[in-house]
Amino acid sequence: MEFLSHPCFLPVFSAALTLWMVKVVLRNLKRRHGKKYHPIAGTVFNQMLNFNRLHHYMTRLAAKYRTYRLINLFRYEVYTADPCNVEYILKTNFENYGKGLYNYHNLKDLLGDGIFTVDGEKWREQRKISSHEFSTKMLRDFSILIFRKNAAKLANIVSEAATSNDTLEIQDLLMKSTMDSIFQVAFGTELDSLCGSSQEEKIFADAFDTSSALTLYRYVDVFWKIKKFLNIGSEAKLRKTTKILNEFVFKLINTRIQQMQISQEGSASKRGDILSRFLQVKGYDSTYLRDIILNFVIAGKDTTAATLAWFIYMLCKYPAVQEKAAKEVKEATSTKKISSYTDFVSSVTDEALEKMNYLHAAITETLRLYPAVPVDAKICFSDDTLPDGYSVNKGDMVSYQPYAMGRMKFIWGDDAEDFRPERWFDDNGTFKQESPFKFTAFQAGPRICLGKEFAYRQMKIFSAVLLGCFRFELNDEKKNVTYKTMINLHIDGGLEIKAFHRYRD
Ligand code: HEM
Repeated sequence: MEFLSHPCFLPVFSAALTLWMVKVVLRNLKRRHGKKYHPIAGTVFNQMLNFNRLHHYMTRLAAKYRTYRLINLFRYEVYTADPCNVEYILKTNFENYGKGLYNYHNLKDLLGDGIFTVDGEKWREQRKISSHEFSTKMLRDFSILIFRKNAAKLANIVSEAATSNDTLEIQDLLMKSTMDSIFQVAFGTELDSLCGSSQEEKIFADAFDTSSALTLYRYVDVFWKIKKFLNIGSEAKLRKTTKILNEFVFKLINTRIQQMQISQEGSASKRGDILSRFLQVKGYDSTYLRDIILNFVIAGKDTTAATLAWFIYMLCKYPAVQEKAAKEVKEATSTKKISSYTDFVSSVTDEALEKMNYLHAAITETLRLYPAVPVDAKICFSDDTLPDGYSVNKGDMVSYQPYAMGRMKFIWGDDAEDFRPERWFDDNGTFKQESPFKFTAFQAGPRICLGKEFAYRQMKIFSAVLLGCFRFELNDEKKNVTYKTMINLHIDGGLEIKAFHRYRD
């Protein structure tokens, strides 16, 4: 809070406060008679005070109000856990709720003009090209090979720890594995951060995590623009970390461009990675490509790794679920004995994965309680009334809350907070899809997660290999495991586990 003593702070703060009061008065004057608004549950200062346990705080409010408002200096923030409202903002009136300039400005320093930050034509264009790439057989086959290769590498590391009875910090290993996977699939570049000890890669990954946390902090820090202007505190740090990111990514892109220019084939058409596809379609605009790269990194690295880490945490907490899923993997892969992890991963075929319904349900149940994107904000573009009869105004921030929604009794029943993969099966034992407006981990509507199938494929291959080969226990049962508040839901401080071999001589 050193900026409080800065000479510019008082005048700028007074001006902002006056502006805010004028806006609040105008906003209230403008309201048409007869409209009703969601209850006010607090202010963004309460969010700041509860920052380290933000999702607990917001879950409590969601249980009390379903949909509520928080007062911000410049707008109301509406938070909903009501599936009818969620369907309305994500699908029925999709055009009226987007990233808007508010999200754009908050996210731009980290994510630039990538798919996560833009609306309209810019979004449509990236969505179209990326959707095409994600649906090709070429990408599917290429990604399966990479997931298997990286899962085998991870299994080797876990095996060494199991043999020597060492403790493993599994979230960190998963972050490295998924980073390696997404880099190779998206950019055709092998980082090998899991086995290698490249200092540059480590600095990049740390800078990425810090930037992600500081970017989210902007949503509750009403002074961030002043701090950015003065280049102090969290904003000075963000500037430093995004510089590290940019240097790393620009180097990667320029190397690829040079490779492609030197290559006699001269074309990207033979390369399966996403960067090559974009290079073909959009030419050599490094900044545009940088934005796409960082958006795919944030989409593909943290989400799947964090989900797998929470999944392993759940398996340690619920050993019966772990044994049931491991038995399913053993049967589906017809495993008798494991002598090499490279051999074992080749038994995790598409056909075997199809049979792993319980594993699929256990991963989905993990996402219900620990969604990788815990809260997702949209901006309302024009005055509107939600299906629950309450109004929202142009400029209000309207967010749906996957984390809070996963814990609502009115959505999932009295056992909402229990980890129970069985809830995903119908009476015939078939996996039942839930409405994406109730189970919102992947968003819904036209902007539904583009990598959903890709993510399940990766998570199922990794977890089938880990569960097929090892049994896991928490290193310290008594240690409190909770999240770190950032864009994605990471386990704070990682997850320490012990691994034990299965089916070995
Ligand atoms: C457990 C894994 C994942 C979860 C829970 C997840 C969840 C989400 C959510 C909630 C959004 C909406 C975010 C927003 O409003 O900006 C989203 C969007 C997106 N996701 Fe995922 N995601 C996962 C993995 C992936 C992976 C592996 C990729 C690709 C490699 C991916 C690619 C994308 C893209 C490109 C978008 C933007 C879609 C658009 O705006 O049109 N996701 N994802």
